[in-house]
Amino acid sequence: MQLADRARNINPSPTLTIDAKAKKMIANGVNVINFGAGEPDFDTPVNIKKAAVAAVNEGMTKYTPVAGTEALRKAIAEKFARDNGLEYAAGQIVVSAGAKHSLYNAFQVLCQEGDEVILPAPYWVSYLEQVKLAGAKPVILPAGLENNFKITPEELEQAVTPRTKVFVINSPSNPTGAVYTRGELAALGNILEKSGIAIISDEIYEKLIYDGVEHVSIASLTPALKEQTVVINGVSKSYAMTGWRIGYAAAAAPVAKAMADLQGHSTSNPTSIAQAAAIEALAGEQQAVHEMVAQFVRRRDYMVERLNAMPGVVCNRPGGAFYVFPEIRQLLGKWCDGKKIENATDLAGVMLEKAHVAIVPGIAFGDDSCFRLSYATSMENIKVGLDRIENLLGTM
Ligand SMILES: Cc1ncc(COP(=O)(O)O)c(C=O)c1O
Repeated sequence: MQLADRARNINPSPTLTIDAKAKKMIANGVNVINFGAGEPDFDTPVNIKKAAVAAVNEGMTKYTPVAGTEALRKAIAEKFARDNGLEYAAGQIVVSAGAKHSLYNAFQVLCQEGDEVILPAPYWVSYLEQVKLAGAKPVILPAGLENNFKITPEELEQAVTPRTKVFVINSPSNPTGAVYTRGELAALGNILEKSGIAIISDEIYEKLIYDGVEHVSIASLTPALKEQTVVINGVSKSYAMTGWRIGYAAAAAPVAKAMADLQGHSTSNPTSIAQAAAIEALAGEQQAVHEMVAQFVRRRDYMVERLNAMPGVVCNRPGGAFYVFPEIRQLLGKWCDGKKIENATDLAGVMLEKAHVAIVPGIAFGDDSCFRLSYATSMENIKVGLDRIENLLGTM
């Protein structure tokens, strides 16, 4: 059977591929340290689980409104007002089956054939595929380690063409952990406001932010930017709720309506029980988030220090998310276990086979001179894994 071009052009997620390979080795009894995880290693907080159990017992097991229950959209609107200084009406909020689904809906309703979407790189892998699925052309705007993996206003200005439809920003970033400051966002916002292009601002790592760094939503900077921006967020990362599949978007009313209409003909509402749990996540006790953040900081600091002590490795200290993105440019062209290492993909292959450590090569994010390590794993694993990486790199 002949598949449609749309289906044949999808590249499977390389992050999930590495994760699957590592898990298979683990299942076969190999002691693999997996730095590939894109999810917190903590369990969902008890108060949230209890809210879900109560929802089941209270019979919240039916369809809900497509865009989410009134109660959840109210909790989301309150969260935007409290945390981001953004006022949205319920009709401007759409709850979906994870932030990935919210992003998919946004690209589908905003983009079409001939449109360009500016993606700063390193980018989260699914943006690229979702842009293509919407028929648009990704325009990659690389940002290097020297600028902390952030693009400048000049670079943005040069990338804008009459065909530019959307600019994507992800702060804190997956894979780099980079966080744009208020000033940096304002400078980008100036250009975006003048050009009038739509903005998709993925803020899923908002709560996982360190060193007193402030999370700023670009939508909160001016009324015009609010009008132009689709803000994406969700409970997966901040509340260790990846399996529950609740993400949400806030946008100008016509955009939100289009996203809900699209969802109404595809998945309908996200799970009713998970929606009840998400209300507790957003409106309930936040202590568990603070505890996670405290652990993530310790792990990040340890990792950055260890990596920078390894010859040929340069690692920035990220302000958010739970990833580090070390660069290995100085190691490229060297040999490791009889294989010439031309890029991070080569290194990731040898690392898994020989050192039994799973890392994600930067190719997945548009920069294969770096690799991504997730610190959403125990300190014990981090220590053993870094010892193994150090030993392997020591042979190069
Ligand atoms: C930058 C970014 N956006 C969105 C998502 C998707 O989140 P969710 O699990 O809510 O679909 C992820 C998950 O890896 C992510 O890293």
